[in-house]
Amino acid sequence: MKKRTHAQLAALVFCVLVWCAIPQRQDRALRAEATLDTTASATAGGMTTTLRIAAESRSDKPDFLIGAAVAYPPLMASPIYRDTLAREYNLVVPENVMKWETIEPEEAKFDFDPGDALVSFAEEHQMKVRGHTLVWHQQLPGWLTTGTHTRDQLLAILKTHIQTVVAHYKGHVFAWDVVNEAIGDNGSMRETIWYKGIGPDYIEQAFRFAHEADPDVQLFYNDFGAEGLGAKSSAVYSLVKDLKDKGVPIDGVGLQMHVGIAVNQVPVIENVKDNIERLGALGLKVHITEMDVKIQNGIGTYDEKLAAQANVYADVLRLCLHEPACTALLTWGFTDRYSWIPDFTHHPDEPLPFTVDYQPKPAYAALIQTLTEP
Ligand code: G3I
Repeated sequence: MKKRTHAQLAALVFCVLVWCAIPQRQDRALRAEATLDTTASATAGGMTTTLRIAAESRSDKPDFLIGAAVAYPPLMASPIYRDTLAREYNLVVPENVMKWETIEPEEAKFDFDPGDALVSFAEEHQMKVRGHTLVWHQQLPGWLTTGTHTRDQLLAILKTHIQTVVAHYKGHVFAWDVVNEAIGDNGSMRETIWYKGIGPDYIEQAFRFAHEADPDVQLFYNDFGAEGLGAKSSAVYSLVKDLKDKGVPIDGVGLQMHVGIAVNQVPVIENVKDNIERLGALGLKVHITEMDVKIQNGIGTYDEKLAAQANVYADVLRLCLHEPACTALLTWGFTDRYSWIPDFTHHPDEPLPFTVDYQPKPAYAALIQTLTEP
């Protein structure tokens, strides 16, 4: 074998160092995409339809939306990511780029470039856009979290942010998650920067600010762990009922649906049904906003876990299709390559309908099957 020169060895060491220095799993996944076949077939796994075609073909619910959260780096860099997204979905939500730290990194200085790129992609492919999220306690910029503000100052900051962002995307974003995750697991208000600095009325103020900026956009409250029945979903119900009673402009509730196949993580469909129906009875829409189905801690072989995962996807989609109030279902990502779950749980997982190589999983087939059922 030919002996390596010093230059070659140095180059090898450099490459290894660069690889190790890449901090995030997503970034590594993006680099490895270069080895994938980017000439993806026009349909997944030889299927003759796609999720969006199947959804748009339903005569009982022709406006039903099937969507996915979009990670910005692969949207910009990966043809197979873009092709799969455009082929399969008619709705997108930015996973991160419309959050406060990205959009208003410095006070009153707005950066809409990444969000605009996502909207352009969506419009080019006749997809709708959900905005996520105007008011949250995470992914806030340092100027906001480390500053000291009076209640009036904080309200003014909130108003400027919401109205600038909503006005910018007027006519391009059809629904916003206005307030995200304001309620804690036990059903009490989460003690966020907004709650502590403004008081519980920050929520209604946020909805009113958004409505002033775009009276036509649909406004949602979004939360996790509030899908079925229990202290948290009751608190969400009371919150949105109170907003409706006061005449606050709210159009719907987002049920995130971060679930799993392990015992206690499978959504109890009867309870989710009751919850959707009581929200619907208030005149509110429901979107399933961030669904993923973890397989870690599931029972059985790998194939059995994927089959159990497929059943959870099918059950939730079937319920949503049959409930008049439920008008959209989105997954939080679509390929296992860019799921947030492994980073969050510190455990490998495959919670989405497509594999890391963009191949359709049993979950995908189950979604198609459910969309084509009467
Ligand atoms: O912005 C930095 C970037 O500058 C840096 O290069 C990169 C690598 O170090 O990290 C980037 O920040 C990460 C960010 O995602 C963007 O990729 C953060 O570390 C990471 O914590 C952040 O995670 C996001 C998480 O919200 C924050 O809580 C996830 O991607 C996103 O999927 C997740 O989404 C939330 C929904 O908004 C609300 N519901 C729950 C859902 C899951 O947590």
